[in-house]
Amino acid sequence: MTHEPAETTVVTFGTFDVFHHGHLKLLQRAADLGNRLIVGVSSDALNISKKGRPPVYSEDERIEIISGLRCVSGVFLEESLAFKRRYLLQHRADVLVMGDDWSGRFDDMGDICRVLYLPRTPDVSTTSTLERIRADAPRRVALLV
Ligand code: CTP
Repeated sequence: MTHEPAETTVVTFGTFDVFHHGHLKLLQRAADLGNRLIVGVSSDALNISKKGRPPVYSEDERIEIISGLRCVSGVFLEESLAFKRRYLLQHRADVLVMGDDWSGRFDDMGDICRVLYLPRTPDVSTTSTLERIRADAPRRVALLV
């Protein structure tokens, strides 16, 4: 007989800067896979090392935004990619969810939890949103004055 955990805890990680609908859909789909979703929000320093730029919104602001979502049960600060295993054990993860831009990268966590990579929502990212704002800046500034 197999023993299924009564409660399924899903854990995911990300920067979630300039929050957009691709982020929301990822979190909603992750939450649907269990009873509670815990989100590791990348620290400002980790984001600089991962993406080579500081986030627009600080880690405190991003934590506040993610904490306010109905589909999220808990949030913690992710300070290093090297601590993945420690975080998953600390938060008793049954499932690790990542977007498929990370496909294969965390398969070695498969000995402590299920590892799932969900397809990204097409045509939206923090980077493309910042590029859109930059491209449209002159028109938007003109509307302010
Ligand atoms: N994500 C997604 N669909 C998108 C964008 C992001 O499912 N269109 C997922 C990522 O795969 C990740 C999580 O949302 O699991 C957080 O992604 P993050 O890197 O913070 O957002 P991006 O928009 O990808 O940021 P950037 O452009 O800075 O790389």
